[in-house]
Amino acid sequence: MCDRPRSDDLLNWYDQNARVLPWRIAPALSKSGHLPDPYRVWLSEIMLQQTTVAAVKPYFLKFTSRWPDVRALASAQDPDVMAAWAGLGYYARARNLLKCSRAVTDDHNGVFPQELSSLLKLPGIGPYTAAAISAIAFQQDATVVDGNVERVMARLHAVQTPLPDAKIELTQKAARLTPTARPGDYAQAVMDLGATVCTPKKPSCDICPWCANCGALAQGITAELPKKRPKPQKPTRYGLVYYVERADGAVLLERRPDRGLLGGMLGWPGSAWDDAPKDAPPVRATWTTLPQRVRHTFTHFHLELTIKTAQLSLSEPVQHGAFIDRHQFRPAELPTVMRKVFDLVNSAEFGYHQPILKTGHDVP
Ligand code: ADE
Repeated sequence: MCDRPRSDDLLNWYDQNARVLPWRIAPALSKSGHLPDPYRVWLSEIMLQQTTVAAVKPYFLKFTSRWPDVRALASAQDPDVMAAWAGLGYYARARNLLKCSRAVTDDHNGVFPQELSSLLKLPGIGPYTAAAISAIAFQQDATVVDGNVERVMARLHAVQTPLPDAKIELTQKAARLTPTARPGDYAQAVMDLGATVCTPKKPSCDICPWCANCGALAQGITAELPKKRPKPQKPTRYGLVYYVERADGAVLLERRPDRGLLGGMLGWPGSAWDDAPKDAPPVRATWTTLPQRVRHTFTHFHLELTIKTAQLSLSEPVQHGAFIDRHQFRPAELPTVMRKVFDLVNSAEFGYHQPILKTGHDVP
């Protein structure tokens, strides 16, 4: 049997090893009473859902320089926010970001509420995010449990039950360890420990502040934990996309409906994605099918897109979407799968036509 882990040992480790992150108040400052801006905590926690710190950093910096507070974000134009989010994935988060910023501005006078129960009523804020905001921004002793924390708890307590069945047990164990002092630093300390020491593969147990308290290490089963219920295989869906370029270089794009995958994002017109997609061209044209397909993996399925291209004269009427002037079109504002289509069409390999953005202005 190992001794019970002490939150102080982890906090001391955090004081020496905290990652420097743009939304974080360093432990030396937080211990002297500095609190982070709740807007920055909220924004970072939404961005960090299912997304790595490395991927989030540039988006966080872009958002906070363009929309420095919740009121600024609330008055942003929806397409601007969706475009700024492009590439980060899980686009429902961006739609909820706008809804939440407007709810905080309109219903809470621009001030984030502190209580878990009020935070949970805001769009896009679930138990994890509410606990993180409450602990990190307001120093409430909420228990914050993400994938990193689950792994740390499963190993520390040698929990053999596979995830997701083990979630309640791991949350209870995490709650028992959460101190009343420095709850925000403690929450971030467990996450940092999971991200940098108690990593999924090859954990660095020799430098872990809790190595003497770790059940999995004592039993030699660290690599096996946390156990996970096998995931069902992802099916493959198929789709057709139409890449249309007008004689003046404008491209045909369509904003996707708010609900559903990639909701609210710009994309190329196309078919539904299923087993046998139907041809549904947005305009009458002579189509060329590219020999190579675009592959992309979403949470629940793989997607294979066949690309059809056409060039149009200026006068052709279109059924779907709208032409965007080549100088206003920013490929970086497309979701990743649509960006892959653009890149393939414009790749040197296919030389389908002159790469449209290599004509004297910056590729964003
Ligand atoms: N992952 C999610 N939230 C985090 C945070 N506040 N610090 C470090 N990693 C995180």
